[in-house]
Amino acid sequence: MKIFVPPIKSQGIKTKLVDWISYNVKDVEHERWVEPFMGTGVVAFNLQPQRALLCDSNPHLINFYNALQRKEVTGDRVRKFLNEEGNKLLETEGQHYYTVRDRFNDKGEPLDFLFLSRACFNGMMRFNRKGGFNVPFCKKNSRFAQALVTKITNQVNNISDIIAQGDYVFKHQDFQKTLAELKNSDLVYSDPPYIGRHVDYFDSWTEEEEVILNKGLEDSGCKFILSTWLSNKYRTNDYVFSVWKNCYVATKEHFYHVGAKESNRNSVFEALLSNIELKDSIENLEMELRITKEESLLTSKPKSNNSQKQLLLKL
Ligand SMILES: C[S@@+](CC[C@H](N)C(=O)[O-])C[C@H]1O[C@@H](n2cnc3c(N)ncnc32)[C@H](O)[C@@H]1O
Repeated sequence: MKIFVPPIKSQGIKTKLVDWISYNVKDVEHERWVEPFMGTGVVAFNLQPQRALLCDSNPHLINFYNALQRKEVTGDRVRKFLNEEGNKLLETEGQHYYTVRDRFNDKGEPLDFLFLSRACFNGMMRFNRKGGFNVPFCKKNSRFAQALVTKITNQVNNISDIIAQGDYVFKHQDFQKTLAELKNSDLVYSDPPYIGRHVDYFDSWTEEEEVILNKGLEDSGCKFILSTWLSNKYRTNDYVFSVWKNCYVATKEHFYHVGAKESNRNSVFEALLSNIELKDSIENLEMELRITKEESLLTSKPKSNNSQKQLLLKL
């Protein structure tokens, strides 16, 4: 499957899981694809449903995609903008990054958002308590060399074409508002933040919100799929077996590096939870048994260190 990578970067992006998600849901009938937590949109833009409702609590993501849909942001404009701003970055030895960051925090323009997303440290997306983007510069003064500008321009053109071919609606709203708009012929793909993983102005997540999401999805009458993690070397995500105990579970091992060393290669088991049977899924109880008996194919021998607290959750 050819994967279309969106122009905006974010730490929670599911680019590496799109193929697997697509394999599991492609035969599931639905009238509309709904994402209460669209993030970069990489999942929807690759599955390319006919109709979609794509929402997020981060207004800048939604502004960006609305501007793309209205053709206010186009490949040509992006190329010109990044060439001009990239030259200023070079001339000022990187200081221009902070001029753009201040300008963005004042006016919130989508092209400035794109510039920051591609010139900040590690492609991170983080906002301070006042809602200001606060990621520092990646420290490469020649960041917007021609090859990267062309790559980003192509990404913008590809995603614009995909959006133009479908009936897509982008909304800046909290997930609870999106849950309230569901129709039972919708297929909902939820990718909420991980509990306690990181907290920022637009992006934090609590146990209470996880329970509200679970209840909202179960009561909606829709088919739903939820992305989360199942286990890593140190811990198991016990919410899979408490809050999401009624769901089928599919898992896939995913490798990532911390730093450059090969020895720092870690793995995490990603999970897809669903109220319908997926191609790869097994029943929740069966997965829990496999984990507690360590009889599964999980190679990293997960150990739960938070089950007591989490399994006491009253649903
Ligand atoms: C894990 S990311 C989604 C990543 C996305 N699937 C992708 O591949 O790019 C979670 C998203 O949820 C959004 N979010 C956090 N809290 C939210 C809330 N209460 N309502 C709606 N969206 C929220 C964040 O802004 C973030 O974009």
